[in-house]
Amino acid sequence: MRKKIVAGNWKMNTTLESAILLASEIDTRLADSKKNVDDVTVLLFPPFPFIHSVADVVNAEKIGVGSQNIANQPKGAFTGEVSAEMIASTGVGYIIIGHSERRAYYGETNEILAQKVDLALANNLDVVFCCGEKLEEREAGQYFDVIKTQLSETILKLSSDQMQHIIIAYEPVWAIGTGKTATPEQAQEIHAFIRNLLSEKFDDALADSVSILYGGSCKPSNAKELFSQPDIDGGLIGGAALKAEDFVQIIESY
Ligand code: PGA
Repeated sequence: MRKKIVAGNWKMNTTLESAILLASEIDTRLADSKKNVDDVTVLLFPPFPFIHSVADVVNAEKIGVGSQNIANQPKGAFTGEVSAEMIASTGVGYIIIGHSERRAYYGETNEILAQKVDLALANNLDVVFCCGEKLEEREAGQYFDVIKTQLSETILKLSSDQMQHIIIAYEPVWAIGTGKTATPEQAQEIHAFIRNLLSEKFDDALADSVSILYGGSCKPSNAKELFSQPDIDGGLIGGAALKAEDFVQIIESY
């Protein structure tokens, strides 16, 4: 059975103090929850400088901590960059790669993303790999092709053993931070398409084992309906992950 996962991508938000507060509140609310949250894997992705402090205040058995980015080079003279090896050495287990904000604002191509995925896996990090189409690509009916290319040039080149360490997140760019969510039917259509790509490239058993998360204005009011779709295995949450109450409600809605 594939894992149910709810991940919070804090992006470039919080300070050291507010990051610790947010993580502690999420931890407490989860511990006190009356709902069955034990079968949901919860992941937090704070900014780099706070990763260690956040990991310190959460129950590691219930909450995994990850990094929002890594460099596409292993080490050396790359001022300001953070390597996969550095992240792994802090005890962190997860990494987000391919987020549309990295693709759009930092020019991360599929080639760069494939390098990052290789480095992450070589350092035993599990990867949340994001894909998703822009509004104009959806309106032009090109979204299947866009997603197929994003995946074919990156994670679909991995071996089936490496794929055990990949979580996919479908995040339509037009839904990220816009308040406009994909309908459960729109999201399910793409999730099923992605699972089918995995079946074609690998096999049905592998396709059935990979968790595919939805991201894009996911919040307490729409999470339940999204998560009830057969091929949606959880969410990658941005804005709503910055409020402990909302984030835990999303987890509880599973
Ligand atoms: P959002 O962001 O929930 O604020 O739309 C999701 C994401 O970018 O991962």
